[in-house]
Amino acid sequence: MQPMKQPKRYLITSALPYANGLKHIGHLAGAYLPADTYVRYLRAQKRDVVYVCGSDEHGAAITIQAMKEKTTPKEIVDKYHEILKSNMGDLGISFDIYHRTSSPIHHETAKEFFTALNDKGELEIKETEQFYDEEAKTFLADRYIVGTCPVCANENAYGDQCERCGTSLSPEQLINPRSTLSGNPPIKKQTKHWYLPLNKHEEFLKNWVLAEHREDWKTNVLGQCKSWLDAGLQPRAVTRDLDWGIKVPLTDAQGKVLYVWFDAPIGYISATKQWALDNNKDWQPYWNDKDTKLVHFIGKDNIVFHCIIFPVMLKLHGNILPDNVPANEFMNLEGDKMSTSRGWSIEMQDYIDDFVKKENGGDMLIDSLRYYLTTIAPENKDSEFTWKGFQDAVNSELVAIFGNFINRTWVLMHKLCKGKVPVLHADVFDNADKELFAAIESSKSKIENLLEEYRFRDALFEVIDLARKGNKYMQDKQPWIVAKQTNDDRQPTTEAQKSIDNCLHVCLQLTANLAIFINPFLPFTAKKMLNMMKVVDKMLEWENAGKSKLLSVGYSLREPQLLFRKIEDAEVAAQIEKLKERSKKMETNKPSTNNLTATVATLKPTIQFDDFAKIDLRTGIILSAEKVAKADKLLKLEVDLGFEKRTIVSGIALHYQPEDIIGKQVVIVANLAPRKMKGIESNGMILMAEDKDGKLHFVSPENQIDGGSGVS
Ligand code: MF3
Ligand code: ZN
Repeated sequence: MQPMKQPKRYLITSALPYANGLKHIGHLAGAYLPADTYVRYLRAQKRDVVYVCGSDEHGAAITIQAMKEKTTPKEIVDKYHEILKSNMGDLGISFDIYHRTSSPIHHETAKEFFTALNDKGELEIKETEQFYDEEAKTFLADRYIVGTCPVCANENAYGDQCERCGTSLSPEQLINPRSTLSGNPPIKKQTKHWYLPLNKHEEFLKNWVLAEHREDWKTNVLGQCKSWLDAGLQPRAVTRDLDWGIKVPLTDAQGKVLYVWFDAPIGYISATKQWALDNNKDWQPYWNDKDTKLVHFIGKDNIVFHCIIFPVMLKLHGNILPDNVPANEFMNLEGDKMSTSRGWSIEMQDYIDDFVKKENGGDMLIDSLRYYLTTIAPENKDSEFTWKGFQDAVNSELVAIFGNFINRTWVLMHKLCKGKVPVLHADVFDNADKELFAAIESSKSKIENLLEEYRFRDALFEVIDLARKGNKYMQDKQPWIVAKQTNDDRQPTTEAQKSIDNCLHVCLQLTANLAIFINPFLPFTAKKMLNMMKVVDKMLEWENAGKSKLLSVGYSLREPQLLFRKIEDAEVAAQIEKLKERSKKMETNKPSTNNLTATVATLKPTIQFDDFAKIDLRTGIILSAEKVAKADKLLKLEVDLGFEKRTIVSGIALHYQPEDIIGKQVVIVANLAPRKMKGIESNGMILMAEDKDGKLHFVSPENQIDGGSGVS
C-alpha cells in the first residue's frame, strides 16, 4: 500500500464538555480517549499537530445546575472547569490546551464570527412566539420547560429531550408543560431571533458529506447525516433569550445571547488562538489553510452539530471543514444506560479516587482503564462496560499476555545474560527468530493503517497479538530449560548459551517495539518500559517501529518494574455494590416523578384511526419459554400464531417463571420490525398491562380462541 499523502498539519478536537457536573467514563471512551490515542500517535510520527479542548460554559445546562446547587452560573463553571481539567489530566488525556468558553478571547471570537455572518447577510431574523414565564419575567430555554414525555410518559422530560427514553423533543410536544423557575405553565410570547438558514445549504451539505466522504466516514455518522438531510433542514435559531452567555453584538438585541451550540464549537477556534498566543505560534493556518486536517472526536449525540451546523458556519465564515468526524456510539454500564443523574455511572473522579490515587504506582491503573475502554470502544455500535469485563481484560490480557512477556524477558535476561542485551549469533539464527522479526516489521504498517482509519480497537488488538506471539516464541524456545545443558563449570554449554542469547536478544528487540506500539494507547506503561530499557523518549518515535536493532548489544538494562497488577474479585464486587447503592440512593432522593396516577392521567397525544390501523394485533399461544443468558429481565418465547410460529424476546422474566406461562394465550403486535436482543432476533411484542406496583400482567382474550385471530 502506498503511503497516503500527509497533510501539512493536524488540528484535533474533542467535544467541549459542559462544565455543569462530573463526566463519566463513557464520555472518556467516546470523545477523549480515542482522540488522545490518535494525537499521541501523530506526535510519535513527528507530525505538526495541535489537540484542543476546553469547558463548554454557557447555555441552560449551566444555569440549571446553578439553580440546583443554589449558586451562580459563574461558581458552577469555575468549579467544574477545574475538576474536568484535572480529571482529564489525571487520566493522561494530553490536550495541548484545555481552554474555557467564558474566557475573553472566546467571547471576542464568537462575537466576531456572528458579526461576520450577519454582515454578509447569511442570517435571518424571525419573530416567533416562545414560552415565557410570567412570574419569573423571562423567556424559557427548552431545558427550563419540563412536562410529560409523549413517548414514555416520564413526567419530568425536558423541553429538548426526554432523559428516560432518549427521544429528542421540542417544548411544544410536552404534555402539561411547566416552567422550572416558577412551576407555572408557561405562556407564549412574541420574541425576535437570528436564524441560520440551514435549508439554503442542503446542496452544499449533500455534496460535501454524502458524496465526498462516503468512503472514509463511519457508516453510523453518514447514516445520521443522511437522515437529517433526507428529512429536509430548517432554519436554526442561533440566539436565545437568556442572561448567561455571550451577548449578541447588536444594539437591537438586548437581553439576548448566542445560542450555546453556536458559540461552543467556535471554542475550538478560540482555544487554538490561545494556544498559539501561549506558544508563540500562528493560529491561522490551522483554520484557514486547506492543507490542515481537522478531525472532531465526539459522541453520537453531537453528530448533527459537527456534521451539519458547524460545517455550514465554517463554510460561510471561510474556514476549512472537518476532514472526518469519527463519532462513537454510547457505552452502557452493567446492562443499563450510563447516566450521572440516575447514579448509574462511573465518574472519572470515582475511578481516580478508587483506583489511581489509592495506591502507590496507581499510574498502572490509568492504563488499565484506558486499555479496557479501548478494547470495548463503541466504535460502530453501543458497547458495554462491566466490572467483570474490566477484570478479565486486565488480568487475562494486560497481566497475562503483555506484562507477562516483558517480565519474563527481563527476569531471564538478568538471570541468563548478566543484565545486558546479548549478542545475536548468526550461526544459530533460526526460522522462529526470523518469523518474529518479520511479525514485528509487519505489525508496523498494520497498526499504522488501523490508527489512520480511527480503528483503535483493532489497532490495540494487533499490539496485544504481537505480545502474544512473543510469549509463544519464548515458550517454544524455553531458555530456562536450555540453560540446564551445563558444562563442567556448571555453566550453560556454548551452544546452549548461544540459543539463550538469541532468544533474549529477539525478545528484547520485541519489547522495544512493543513500547513504541503501546505508547499511543498506554503512555504510562510505555514510559516505564523506557525506564527499564534505560533509553530516552526519542526511542518512542514511530519511525523506530518495526526495526529489530533498537537496543544495542552489550547495553545493560535496569531491573524489571511491575507494569500491571491483577484486579481482585473483591474490587469487582465492591464496585458493583457501590453502583447499586448509589443508584438506589439517587432514585429515592428524586422527587417522586413516576407515581402512577400521573402516568395514568396523562394521555399520549391524539392519533387518527389510520395510525392505529397500522398495528397488526394477533392472538397467540406461548409454546415454550426460557431465560435469556446474561439478561435478568428477558425471556425467549416461542409463540404459535396458528399460521406460523414466532420467536419473541419479552422483558417479563422478573414477573413470570418460564414454566408458569406455557400454554398462555396472549396478544402480540405481529408487524413490529424485528429487533435483536442479546443476539436473539425478536419478531413481535407481547402486550402487557402494568399495575401500580409496576408488576406486569398478560392481556388475553377472555375465552380460548384460535391463534392468529385479529385484535382491534
Ligand atoms: N457541551 C456539549 C455536550 O456536552 C458538546 C459541545 S461540543 C462543541 O454535549 F463543539 F460545541 F464544542
Ligand atoms: Zn420519554
